[in-house]
Amino acid sequence: METNSAVTVVAPRRRLQGQVVIITGGASGIGASSVELFHENGAKVVIADIQDDLGQALASKLGENTSYIHCDVSNEDDVMNLVDTTVAKYGKLDVMFNNAGVLDRSSGSILGVQKSELDRLLSVNLGGAFLGAKHATRVMKPQGKGCILFTASACTSIAGLSSHAYAASKSGICGLAKNLTPELGQYGIRVNCISPYGLVSGMSRVSCEAEREKVEATLSGMGTLRGEVLRTDGIAKAALFLASDEAYYVSGINLVVDGGFSVVNPTMIANRNRNDQLRKADLSTDIIDG
Ligand SMILES: NC(=O)c1ccc[n+]([C@@H]2O[C@H](COP(=O)([O-])OP(=O)(O)OC[C@H]3O[C@@H](n4cnc5c(N)ncnc54)[C@H](O)[C@@H]3O)[C@@H](O)[C@H]2O)c1
Repeated sequence: METNSAVTVVAPRRRLQGQVVIITGGASGIGASSVELFHENGAKVVIADIQDDLGQALASKLGENTSYIHCDVSNEDDVMNLVDTTVAKYGKLDVMFNNAGVLDRSSGSILGVQKSELDRLLSVNLGGAFLGAKHATRVMKPQGKGCILFTASACTSIAGLSSHAYAASKSGICGLAKNLTPELGQYGIRVNCISPYGLVSGMSRVSCEAEREKVEATLSGMGTLRGEVLRTDGIAKAALFLASDEAYYVSGINLVVDGGFSVVNPTMIANRNRNDQLRKADLSTDIIDG
């Protein structure tokens, strides 16, 4: 019998072929994973961050069609320069991924929060998102097309996941995104949020692999979905979907990537488990009595 040894290799579909993308906070964590995935999918990616060494190193590693620009997202001149330099280099801007963010260490009572800490979070997380959207709109509006993405957080869906200042900054992003949707929709610009559950990234400051595994195990243990661990690539993949043509009619959503964590009422589940145990105990008593 003749065998055909020829193997047909199907090239992976490049879902962002020729698209020009800016990713803020692109030097580390979710941003860096998104840079790699978007680049792999054919995009020309501009990495924007304040960690110059990391950002430059990632751009050099990926080579063609990537570049790094220093940009503090809370500074309007920096954001304006980022967008203008990108358009001068590539001629357009298709996707603005406003992902840069900072975390505060304080949690617990609002009484312990310093105003300066609130200002810092609002300025980078919400202010950065606002400026990114503003300057992206400036160039996308004449194009009649575009996609603006924001990284918010699962703390926008359920209380108690973060500090008050962080929750305020991230909920502000969701409010901004929703409010922008009708205005920017008129110019063909889609606006969406992605809200990750907790994951290990640069902001987790884990010092070794063992610590990473421990933090991931704790987060997964608290979560609802078994058998999976959320890593930065899980958010990058959600962002790729929203940025791609597959989401051509998706606008105004907050895509919560939390394995169902925020839709579960833990009190109800605890009660149900307790009732199940009581029922089992009653049944075994019946059997013994019977
Ligand atoms: N890690 C999590 O558990 C988690 C959960 C929900 C949401 N998020 C959000 O995801 C986004 C990405 O964070 P990450 O987890 O990848 O952390 P990360 O620290 O690895 O990445 C954040 C990046 O933002 C950059 N950045 C900080 N301030 C900046 C500024 N003023 N201008 C420009 N860049 C700045 C940092 O240098 C860093 O490279 C953030 O908005 C964060 O709030 C993270």
